[in-house]
Amino acid sequence: MIKVLGICGSPRKGNSQYLLEKALEAARQVAPGEVITELYSIRGKKFAPCISCSRCGDQQGECILKDDFQELREKWIEADAIIYSVPVYHMGIPAQLKAFIDRLGNSLFGRYASLFEGEATLPKSLKVIGAIAQGAHLFSGQEHTITDIINHALVMGCVPVTGDMWEAYIGAGAWTYNESGRNVLENKENDGSLDMWVALRGAAAIGRRAAELALILKAGGQALSGRLKQDPIYRPFLDRVQG
Ligand SMILES: Cc1cc2nc3c(=O)[nH]c(=O)nc-3n(C[C@H](O)[C@H](O)[C@H](O)COP(=O)(O)O)c2cc1C
Repeated sequence: MIKVLGICGSPRKGNSQYLLEKALEAARQVAPGEVITELYSIRGKKFAPCISCSRCGDQQGECILKDDFQELREKWIEADAIIYSVPVYHMGIPAQLKAFIDRLGNSLFGRYASLFEGEATLPKSLKVIGAIAQGAHLFSGQEHTITDIINHALVMGCVPVTGDMWEAYIGAGAWTYNESGRNVLENKENDGSLDMWVALRGAAAIGRRAAELALILKAGGQALSGRLKQDPIYRPFLDRVQG
């Protein structure tokens, strides 16, 4: 069994969530009954920005700010694969999601410090991370936004995944034809356009490949656990894949 967590980075139930649902549906189809999916939306949630107090370094990674961060952090830690679906905001990811990611990265140094005898480093979590980004326009930040998420994956010791050639070079993308409505993509689902075909195929491929890669990593971790467990950097990964 693997868990695929879809994180919708939009403050509304709109185009990001629509594409994320397509990706999660494709993930489940990889191995029915073996792939559990959950969609978590940041809609209505509060993620205050990191205040750089460094308290998470000496509190087993607990963040001093109490809001929806703790809930999403636990879901993030449990997941085998994470698919972010985000609207492009000012050529990048929305501030709420950035605040979550900033706090996640720093708090995990504290959480895992005991594994590394107090040294500030992060484990190789080896979660699969995929990205979907859509915006109002073309050439308006989708790739930058996906790159933000790929960088987050690398920093967190995770494995970025993309879909297939040619619609998903580094992630899936779409545009809403210069309309700002929340249901633009859903309403265009059957419009026969190349843009929608690319968006839907890209999103589904991200979901499918993310689930497949998570299954591969799980099997690999189980097969190599004897060797990997010598190195504490793999301990959270092994704990997860060995249940
Ligand atoms: C604050 C803000 C900034 C935005 N910046 C961009 C941008 O840089 N590039 C772009 O293509 N669209 C931009 N948009 C448009 C949204 O990405 C677009 O409407 C998207 O479809 C919203 O997704 P959602 O329906 O999931 O919320 C911006 C929207 C907002 C509210």
